[in-house]
Amino acid sequence: MIGDDRTRELADRYDRDASAYRDHWAPVLRKAGMVLVRELADAPVERVLDIGTGVGTLMPDLWREFHGASVVGVDRSHGMLALAPDMTRPAVMDARQLAFRTASIDRVVMAFMLFHLDDPMTGLREARRILRDRGRLGVLTWGGELNSKANDVWLAHLDSHGAVPPDPAAETRHERVDTPEKNGGAAARRRLRLGALLGGGTDLGLRRG
Ligand SMILES: C[S@@+](CC[C@H](N)C(=O)[O-])C[C@H]1O[C@@H](n2cnc3c(N)ncnc32)[C@H](O)[C@@H]1O
Repeated sequence: MIGDDRTRELADRYDRDASAYRDHWAPVLRKAGMVLVRELADAPVERVLDIGTGVGTLMPDLWREFHGASVVGVDRSHGMLALAPDMTRPAVMDARQLAFRTASIDRVVMAFMLFHLDDPMTGLREARRILRDRGRLGVLTWGGELNSKANDVWLAHLDSHGAVPPDPAAETRHERVDTPEKNGGAAARRRLRLGALLGGGTDLGLRRG
């Protein structure tokens, strides 16, 4: 498995924070993920893969929307997978090197994980490799950075309480998953805020959600 230091440190961090993630953050992200899952469930399929599934946030929604299909979740963090629901059939795997056959999966989900990769294109190419003809990949990521007074106040408050600086391993590189549409002004951002759907097949074209 690909095991550069930064990826290992990130996995360690997710291992450590897994239960807080499950209790406090997963329910927040799930709301956006449910929209993506419904968008992808446009036809009966056999095999669905959730890459970077974490604590299996979207598993209940994937089981419901893809009833009867084989749904598998993979992630780099053992600790996160250990908290995923039993039926997740979890496997420790790196998004950049998936242990799945070429053209074997009908739907791939990458929810809030692509920005963790140094080179997101590697992850996208790997997802495309395993997709069958007419397969579809759904990617969910954050909109542009929101500069707000509230955020400034919050950061100043944290500093005044001696908060430690952010862990470099947890640094996210949102600019690497930016698209012209995402940066194209408020209207485009609104349309894209719940996710961008990338069609499978030969072109990785962006379809607005
Ligand atoms: C913000 S969490 C998102 C989890 C889940 N998809 C959700 O929506 O709650 C990011 C997840 O991506 C995983 N991840 C980061 N880099 C990865 C990699 N190279 N391969 C597989 N998983 C990775 C992390 O371990 C973590 O569980």
